[in-house]
Amino acid sequence: MEVSGRVRALLLLCWIFQGESQDVEIPNREVEVVKGQTVVLQAWYSPTSDISRNTVLWNFMANESKLVISYSNGELGAGSPEFRKRAGFSRSMPSANLSIYINNTQESDSGRYLCNVLIPGVPGLLGDLRLNVKVPPSPPVCTMTGSPVLNGNVTLSCKSSSGKPVPQYKWTKTAPMSEVFFSPMQNMAPKKRTRGTTRTLQNCNDEETENGSRIEDSLVKTAQAVKGKRKVSASEKTGKQSSSKEEETAERPQYSHWLMKSEPESRYENGIDVKFGIEDLKGLPNQTGCWDGVRNYQARNFMRDMKEGQQAFFYHSNCKVPGIAGIMKIVKESYVDHTQFDKKEVNYDASSKADKPKWSMVDVQFERMLKRFIPLLELKKIHLQHKTTDGPLKDMALFTQARLSVQPLTSDEFNFILSLED
Ligand SMILES: *[C@@H]1O[C@H](CO)[C@@H](O)[C@H](O)[C@H]1NC(C)=O
Ligand SMILES: *[C@@H]1O[C@H](CO)[C@@H](O)[C@H](O)[C@H]1NC(C)=O
Ligand SMILES: *[C@@H]1O[C@H](CO)[C@@H](O)[C@H](O)[C@H]1NC(C)=O
Ligand SMILES: *[C@@H]1O[C@H](CO)[C@@H](O)[C@H](O)[C@H]1NC(C)=O
Ligand SMILES: *[C@@H]1O[C@H](CO)[C@@H](O)[C@H](O)[C@H]1NC(C)=O
Ligand SMILES: *[C@@H]1O[C@H](CO)[C@@H](O)[C@H](O)[C@H]1NC(C)=O
Repeated sequence: MEVSGRVRALLLLCWIFQGESQDVEIPNREVEVVKGQTVVLQAWYSPTSDISRNTVLWNFMANESKLVISYSNGELGAGSPEFRKRAGFSRSMPSANLSIYINNTQESDSGRYLCNVLIPGVPGLLGDLRLNVKVPPSPPVCTMTGSPVLNGNVTLSCKSSSGKPVPQYKWTKTAPMSEVFFSPMQNMAPKKRTRGTTRTLQNCNDEETENGSRIEDSLVKTAQAVKGKRKVSASEKTGKQSSSKEEETAERPQYSHWLMKSEPESRYENGIDVKFGIEDLKGLPNQTGCWDGVRNYQARNFMRDMKEGQQAFFYHSNCKVPGIAGIMKIVKESYVDHTQFDKKEVNYDASSKADKPKWSMVDVQFERMLKRFIPLLELKKIHLQHKTTDGPLKDMALFTQARLSVQPLTSDEFNFILSLED
């Protein structure tokens, strides 16, 4: 440190003499590092005399200049306290390579660094660079304002307490993906419509691609009383559709249990009440209905995997307290969803041809209510726990593929949820 008094005067001189010229070679004059990591500040020069007689000084030009490290008269000199034990020369000195490293970089290390070489009898050499220590953002804390109701406006504001540069959070809008469910009574052939209202069903789906890569399940779910159900001919059931079914099932895991979503509360979509809760299924003849109107490839494929006799949870969605209400049974395996061909249907799909139908449905029958309603929130808590404890609900599709209206469950998942009843 005795060096620094003498040196500072010299340094100033050098500064005046050298101006901005870079006699010390600095390959990278804008250096970035993430806080906590080690950074190497590279510098070297081409000596013309015995380098062991030269003095090397690295200074941090903060509000006042601080010595980072020095080499003089064959000795290393420690710098000011904040760099002591963190900074060192990369090469053993003396060396024409003046590079230094700084361990465990701090945000306050950001700034300008000067490297000086003082050579007896000749003007010194100088180089400088700028270090920018970036700080990863801390996890954001988000708050929501506004009223989270259908069509309501909400504002989500997120802020990280630290981070450099200051983190910006940006929200992007994705395509609409509301799930809309229609009650069976609304989907009967007009002359069988018992409620007497003529309704136009609006499909909220946008264009889907046959490759099925979309995971959003924007679907219109309609169910229909068994009595009003169109008879499906055997040729429609077999043939092309079943062969493509075999192809698909060959590549996917087989599931034995399911979860199917529907809305139990009245909600008007273009003047149509989309309500169809478990009580509505219970109220149908023989407590059986068909699950038509699904217009999402993934959900459809799961329905095509369903086997007669398998059980599915009836899940109440888009309501005050979403969750699992009861159990139903698959009583008829997938067959052609007739609503795709019916121009009067909102689910009408002009691109679907009768000889190669795109959409399928199954028949379900009410089996029983759960002994108690199991709310989504409860399942979510368990899911989060299970993710750390490797429990049975760790991968539950309800959370990993939340948007799907028809979801597979493993036996373990199904049985675990049943165990929550008591
Ligand atoms: C430099 O001075 C300013 C104002 O006095 C202060 O806020 C800042 O923390 C100082 N910077 C360093 C690196 O000491
Ligand atoms: C900096 O870190 C390196 C690698 O961890 C270590 O070898 C070196 O001794 C450290 N330097 C100082 C001055 O603590
Ligand atoms: C100087 O040393 C640094 C750190 O070891 C290295 O990255 C750089 O390539 C060296 N430069 C020369 C010219 O050898
Ligand atoms: C929500 O915001 C949009 C655009 O600013 C506005 O048109 C709409 O009326 C708002 N809706 C409500 C419920 O305030
Ligand atoms: C599948 O669909 C997505 C989204 O529409 C599209 O980006 C992608 O290119 C498609 N892939 C193939 C193989 O068609
Ligand atoms: C009602 O459902 C049961 C059990 O699935 C079935 O055996 C029976 O044939 C059905 N009855 C009618 C009238 O469809």
